[in-house]
Amino acid sequence: MSGRPYLLSWRLEDRKVVVVGGGSIGTGKIETLLGTGARIVVVDPAPSRRVEELSREGMLFLRRRRARPTDMVAAALVVAATGDSAVNRRLRRWAKVAGAVVNAVDDKQNCDVTVPAAVHRGPATIAISTDGASPAASRFLREELAGAVDHAIPLLTAEVVGQAAEARGELRRTGHYRYDYPAWRDGFFKPAMDAVRSGHLKAVDDVKRRFVAEFDSAAQHRPGRVTLVGAGPGDPDLITVRGARSLACAAVVVYDRLVDQRTLALAPAAAERIPVGKGKGFGHTQDEINSLLIERALAGDDVVRLKGGDPFVFGRGGEEADALAAAGVGVDVVPGISSALSAPLLAGIPVTDRRHAASFTVVTGHRATQNHDGGDPWTTGASETMVVLMAATTADRVARRLRAGGRPGTEPVAFIHRAGSPLQEVEVTCLDEVERRGCPFPSPTVMVVGPVAAMARRSEGEVRWDTSTLMTSRL
Ligand SMILES: C[S@@+](CC[C@H](N)C(=O)[O-])C[C@H]1O[C@@H](n2cnc3c(N)ncnc32)[C@H](O)[C@@H]1O
Repeated sequence: MSGRPYLLSWRLEDRKVVVVGGGSIGTGKIETLLGTGARIVVVDPAPSRRVEELSREGMLFLRRRRARPTDMVAAALVVAATGDSAVNRRLRRWAKVAGAVVNAVDDKQNCDVTVPAAVHRGPATIAISTDGASPAASRFLREELAGAVDHAIPLLTAEVVGQAAEARGELRRTGHYRYDYPAWRDGFFKPAMDAVRSGHLKAVDDVKRRFVAEFDSAAQHRPGRVTLVGAGPGDPDLITVRGARSLACAAVVVYDRLVDQRTLALAPAAAERIPVGKGKGFGHTQDEINSLLIERALAGDDVVRLKGGDPFVFGRGGEEADALAAAGVGVDVVPGISSALSAPLLAGIPVTDRRHAASFTVVTGHRATQNHDGGDPWTTGASETMVVLMAATTADRVARRLRAGGRPGTEPVAFIHRAGSPLQEVEVTCLDEVERRGCPFPSPTVMVVGPVAAMARRSEGEVRWDTSTLMTSRL
């Protein structure tokens, strides 16, 4: 099997399921099949005592012998619990002829399907699959999750799910049913879960009645919201917990060029993903992005606007928030870890190492091409450590400005390209060299100027904390 698994929920009532192997593992599988209503046939010359007992109680049909091709006839599913890969392969051949699918226990290569570990709460089932890679891991995660589920989703959730099914049935009968998830979430599930959590189980029924009565008008008038989320520097582990939660609930994700695909994968598979990469000479204009966000939110979608780093650091997030608010759209903003902070750190540079710097300034490289009347960031506004974003094409001018502001040509400079991604690269040089040759990398690159830049590591394992020797030997 290759690719991502597609999880299905399979009804097996009155279908024939053949379990080959009634030992301890097969018996465990049989226990999970018992509640499904399947016609269970177990084939084993020496089954476990539990299988014998279930057979006596009429819960399954037992064939006390070795398996034969004819056992598979009319089967929907064959569970191969033999512990022997060669036997499983043979069973799979027979099953294929009979048109049945095979789950070979702990033998991924002989599986058509794997069976997730499941947490059942009333009619709700939470499945955990490792796609057959490690049944023990699935089981361990299920055990871990069961505790967490009981905390987050109390056992009485069954009542909520049951009432949801009733509400759906009533709306179907009157021709009003729609799969309008935001309306269900806000109008039914949230108030129903609140009622369960505060011990007012009976109130769930009131919530349902109100929801059914108001379903049409609530759904029609519910506008969506936009959440501006900072994705951090690239690695999906570096998004905030709140950012990841917002993404997990998004119906639409509008993302920019710096967002890593692995972070995008935190959104539901069914969420619509819209790239709006901006950069020199390509992509959408800011007005187009604003209009898209407004349009989708007013249509009722919950939109996540996912931006690299922090949405308010050189990200025009403030302008987007203003445009949305002006259009009457609700906006939330979730901070992210800006590359201004994370890129130096991920390259091993402490921007305010007290031996070298008491402050740092973050500035855009674009300012090197402009003249300023007020505080010039390269001279009067400069700190010991300068962190320059968007300097890939202007690094030579940045260096010239800093030299003109009185910094020595030997001042260390570090460039960090694609920080936080598997393609991160780091170069350390000095201001004179940058003035001559510019930035060694294309965008996205962060430039760090100042004594602390000499502490940069070019690779994961490299340790360069002793700056006293480094600054002279390398530059
Ligand atoms: C338009 S600004 C957006 C900054 C972003 N909002 C943040 O807080 O990181 C784009 C610049 O951020 C820097 N940048 C963003 N992500 C980066 C990364 N993963 N590695 C290096 N530089 C990055 C580069 O200097 C790039 O030109």
